[in-house]
Amino acid sequence: MEKFKRIGVLTSGGDAPGMNATIRAVTRTALAHGVEVVGIYRGYSGLIAKDVKPLTLRDVSNMMNHGGTVLYSDRCPEFKTEPGMQKAIAACRELGIDGIVAMGGDGTFRGATDLTLRGVPCIGIPCTIDNDITSTESTIGFDTAMNTTLELIDRLRDTCESHARSNVVEVMGRHAGDLAAYTALASGATAVIVPELPFDEEYLLKKIRTSRALGKRNFIVVVSEGMGSDFAPALTERIEKETGVESRFARFAHVVRGGVPTLRDRMLGTMMGEYAVEQLLEGKSKLVICKRDADLVATDISFALITDRMYKGKLQEGDLAPYTEEQVAEMRALCNKKHEFLASLCHSVDKLGL
Ligand code: ADP
Ligand code: F6P
Repeated sequence: MEKFKRIGVLTSGGDAPGMNATIRAVTRTALAHGVEVVGIYRGYSGLIAKDVKPLTLRDVSNMMNHGGTVLYSDRCPEFKTEPGMQKAIAACRELGIDGIVAMGGDGTFRGATDLTLRGVPCIGIPCTIDNDITSTESTIGFDTAMNTTLELIDRLRDTCESHARSNVVEVMGRHAGDLAAYTALASGATAVIVPELPFDEEYLLKKIRTSRALGKRNFIVVVSEGMGSDFAPALTERIEKETGVESRFARFAHVVRGGVPTLRDRMLGTMMGEYAVEQLLEGKSKLVICKRDADLVATDISFALITDRMYKGKLQEGDLAPYTEEQVAEMRALCNKKHEFLASLCHSVDKLGL
């Protein structure tokens, strides 16, 4: 505990609702331990530029109910270069930053790893609407993005029902189908298409024709952005041409990345923020805070990143070499659990969306 006089907190990569609740929890937990906190603006860009502000108890008031991030975010290619990294390390020394809590996704965690390995201990907190960090069941921002997406789909369904139309909806998620699958199930969509699972277009067209013949008026088809930007518009045209059901296309994109964070995202951000600071002050680093069942656990960042690669089927030669058989088995179990859950959601969408 002696070692830490001042820690930094930053938000990086795509912003996520709940980041502000997390900043508040990090700040107040550290201050309660007598450790100063500086807010680093614009993620790693602000660290390199020494764009920081000391945070007091009052500085983090009245913000947990706001979306976005009061510390702003950025994508910083310079930080990935050795000269950029050296500037960041020098900035930490100059500013007296003894450790950093970094909120973001896998790119942010890679940066946090590089900093830790060069002497600035970091702890990562998973904040992304994509829910694409395999070692945690939930990322901060996912719940809000799901609820916003759900509300928008419900609105589209109203107008589809009135006009007897189909609406193909593309939702964000980068390479992950979580946002698409969860919201498709909860909105009663006819189909969901995600990059993790095969898609049978003929089957979907037949399903729409059959349901239309049986009197169904509205058809919602949710597509994850990981299918590629041309996929959903082209599918919209084919549905209309091949089934005769008039069709529209909507891309929700960044609209669902903003807005008032839900209770779940505020809770998760608050709990992870507190936990991250406790881990850091106990002298731990290069960890990402994860939710497993009802618990929070701290997982080694490299373990988490390799598990993500395993989940995406992108393991590289030697990736698993540093790990024991038990650790590899744990990675596989995490991947299988996540994949099976996603597949079961997609299966239910198809079975029930009639
Ligand atoms: P996310 O954290 O949401 O995955 P990005 O992939 O854009 O978002 O990463 C956020 C930032 O993290 C990048 O702009 C960069 O500054 C830093 N970063 C990403 N990848 C690396 C890497 N391999 N090494 C060091 N820093 C990285
Ligand atoms: O990672 C969050 C995310 O919103 C993804 O869903 C999306 O692919 C990407 O970020 C969009 O990035 P940008 O903000 O650079 O347009």
